[in-house]
Amino acid sequence: MKFHIHTYGCQMNERDSESAAAVLLAAGYEEAASEAEADLVLVNTCSVRKKAEDKAIGKLGILAHNIKKKRSDALVGAMGCMVQRMGDSLLTEVKGLDFALGTRSLPLLPEVVERALAGSAGMVVLDEVEHGVVSAHRVGPQSAFVNILMGCDRRCSYCIVPDVRGREWSRDAADVLREVEALVKDGVKEITFLGQSVMSYGRKNDVWGESHVSALGFQEPLPRLLEAANGIVGLERIRFTSGHPSGCTDELAKAVSVLSSVCEHMHVPVQSGSDRILASMGRGYTSDEYKDSILRMRSLTPGMALTTDVIVGYPGETDSEFEMTRALMEDMKFDNAFIFKYSPRPGTRAADLPDDVEPDEKKRRNAVLLEDQDRRGRMLNDAYIGQEVEVLCDGESLRNKERLAGRTRENKIAVFDPAAGVGKGDIVKVLVERSGPQTLYGKAVN
Ligand code: 5AD
Ligand code: SF4
Repeated sequence: MKFHIHTYGCQMNERDSESAAAVLLAAGYEEAASEAEADLVLVNTCSVRKKAEDKAIGKLGILAHNIKKKRSDALVGAMGCMVQRMGDSLLTEVKGLDFALGTRSLPLLPEVVERALAGSAGMVVLDEVEHGVVSAHRVGPQSAFVNILMGCDRRCSYCIVPDVRGREWSRDAADVLREVEALVKDGVKEITFLGQSVMSYGRKNDVWGESHVSALGFQEPLPRLLEAANGIVGLERIRFTSGHPSGCTDELAKAVSVLSSVCEHMHVPVQSGSDRILASMGRGYTSDEYKDSILRMRSLTPGMALTTDVIVGYPGETDSEFEMTRALMEDMKFDNAFIFKYSPRPGTRAADLPDDVEPDEKKRRNAVLLEDQDRRGRMLNDAYIGQEVEVLCDGESLRNKERLAGRTRENKIAVFDPAAGVGKGDIVKVLVERSGPQTLYGKAVN
């Protein structure tokens, strides 16, 4: 029996899809070369915006209809955040769906597939299984995600995540490190520690016990984890995401600057540059506090890249409040920004506020920020021309098979002419010759 998984949403979801693949492989299923060849197609869904949900529902509907028309015995299942949010009502939205599995029930996947094969149609499984952690992974790729913090206890007014991912809970550090070591043994060179608010790692439950003493004197759990991972031989790069300004402590700044494998990049969503909007969102910082946090990190790691998320058209956002966001983005010199048009999510606090910024105006604000970011990205990337950057090669460039592509330590995409013997999974020096808003172009130098 062959399976294929489609993934929507964040890195957390990509990681869950890898886990789903791992539990299926362990249960004797095979990965299909394409969707058309699969007997089981899974869609890993996202709830963060309405658009993401609409896409997944569309995809599931088409799959359930088309695949089953050709092969009546094929299975279509949904997993992920939207299942958690919608529960049984997903089955009424998507006709022909065989099963739906919540975010905390991943280990039950093979069992649910067996039950579906045995003929029990329309199952929705939302049971909580050991916090849903599956410490398995796919062998082979040079990069891997590792969950360290599940759920989220921040209650940002607009956000559905706490509802779909549950209470915040940190994994035991020894357990995390064992997983990283196993990944490195399998050839992984880069790992990204994941959590919705990753810097809260270990603050709610004791993750270290007595088991680790920091040589560098770190007291906070995340810097200690970074330090321990930094000591794993063969692990070249360590990342962590997503960040929150409150987690940008002196200890974290020191860890990023002194630990050689920790990459010079952070993703710290700012969401808005208006203090009134930030307060309504319940983000827990002002724009000045955001700036100070980043300054603390940058003062010890000057070349650090910074990326962010921004929401435009939040309830009541005036034009001048939007301009504050614009100004803050210019001020912070973000290397990249993900810009989202606000969409109300049922059950959140913001959903009770009037969604009063007109769709056209949201679109305009979105376009303005994208244009600004394009210009800024181009300018920041120009500064790399003539420099050598370290790139972890992901393989052939999608656009041009003659060239290779990968990421720099700053998490910038680099596309480059190969040198002899350089391929997927290698770490190479690339001389940057030109740049675009999101990409560096150059050639490998040995
Ligand atoms: N509307 C628009 N954007 C949202 N995000 C989260 N919830 C919403 C929403 N209701 C954005 C935030 C977050 C990113 C993952 O998605 O910017 O950081
Ligand atoms: Fe990720 Fe949130 Fe979307 Fe779930 S709802 S996939 S946690 S972005």
